[in-house]
Amino acid sequence: MQIKKMNERVSLFIDRKKELAELAENGKHVVIVGYRRMGKTHLILRHLVKSAGRKAVPVYMDMLYFASWEEFANALVEETLLAYDEVAGKDLSSLFRRFSSSVASALSSVNEIEAGFGAGGVNFLSLRLAFAEREKSEMELLKGALDFVSGFAEKNGVSVIIALDEIQNIQNFGDMERGLAIMRGEMQFTKGIRLIMSGSLPSFIHSEILEKSKPFWKQLKTMEVGPFGMDAVKEAAKATGVAEKHCEEVLALTRGIPDYVMKILMEMKKGAGASAAFEHIVMDEELFFSSIISSLSQAEHIIIRRIAMGEGYSRLEKAVGYPPTAVLNSLIRKGLVTRTAKGAYAVVDPGLEFVLKH
Ligand SMILES: Nc1ncnc2c1ncn2[C@@H]1O[C@H](COP(=O)(O)OP(=O)(O)OP(=O)(O)O)[C@@H](O)[C@H]1O
Ligand SMILES: [Mg+2]
Repeated sequence: MQIKKMNERVSLFIDRKKELAELAENGKHVVIVGYRRMGKTHLILRHLVKSAGRKAVPVYMDMLYFASWEEFANALVEETLLAYDEVAGKDLSSLFRRFSSSVASALSSVNEIEAGFGAGGVNFLSLRLAFAEREKSEMELLKGALDFVSGFAEKNGVSVIIALDEIQNIQNFGDMERGLAIMRGEMQFTKGIRLIMSGSLPSFIHSEILEKSKPFWKQLKTMEVGPFGMDAVKEAAKATGVAEKHCEEVLALTRGIPDYVMKILMEMKKGAGASAAFEHIVMDEELFFSSIISSLSQAEHIIIRRIAMGEGYSRLEKAVGYPPTAVLNSLIRKGLVTRTAKGAYAVVDPGLEFVLKH
């Protein structure tokens, strides 16, 4: 994504001063966790825009766009060059595209490639050729791409901030564990890259990145992005021109989830009352919620509906006739339900909760 575009997307930015300061603080790799709609992407984009400059190249990668490590590796190199061009006012990306459109013949101009991109450029292009001829694996291509970016950063005296959003999608790349191991390994030894990983499936991030492999990441910091508090809601109301007296109701209906807060305020600005506005937002996304609901097993459906009605463990057990632990865990793993106290649960998304109740 172009920096200009990122900037447009986050032109309205509320609060998160602490989180931005924490991101700006040091060069550690970061994992950002938070439920859907919490504003992870918004925060990342704002940080990237604020960091962008002659010494810092921000690269935003939405992992949902890629289906394999190969696609990711290629895009990483291209996006890095595009972002560098944007901050440095150069046009290296089209030069690279020219080389990579015909790798075999490009490799006869090794000096030119090296001059533009460093040794990593020659290496990466050779890897691509070998990959096409099935002599090298995706994993080698991934490693080559990371080496490329790191070498390029060093050659040009910049640091590259790579944000990998929707990281849980690497589950679909195949050989996820090896891909992650390669990224980890590269991050131990390469300089000039700062990784920011984020995604909307906290359980995946916890199990695959934090629990299993945290000891292997050098300097990995975890950041939680939670709901807006009252101050942030007030700031948002002010920014959208809604009277402060409505803030308490807005906070209660939305539970401070930034996506809902901003949407409800926009509706209220047009004159709607808070609860009518919330209902409207939820109805707008009815298809989304019904697709979630129809993906559930019957037991999950029964349990989540009762959780929405406020029932606790013992009522849930009575309803299904057996201990609902496995079903509850599955709902929690899917990020739909959270445990709020011993034996007490809540639907994470107030929109989904609303639909389940009505
Ligand atoms: N700090 C903020 N200031 C203003 N608006 C925000 C902020 N954070 C989030 N929003 C609003 O909420 C919407 C959803 O936020 P965002 O896409 O960043 O959430 P997310 O956590 O990345 O969600 P997902 O997990 O679904 O990708 C944004 O499009 C924006 O309108
Ligand atoms: Mg997001």
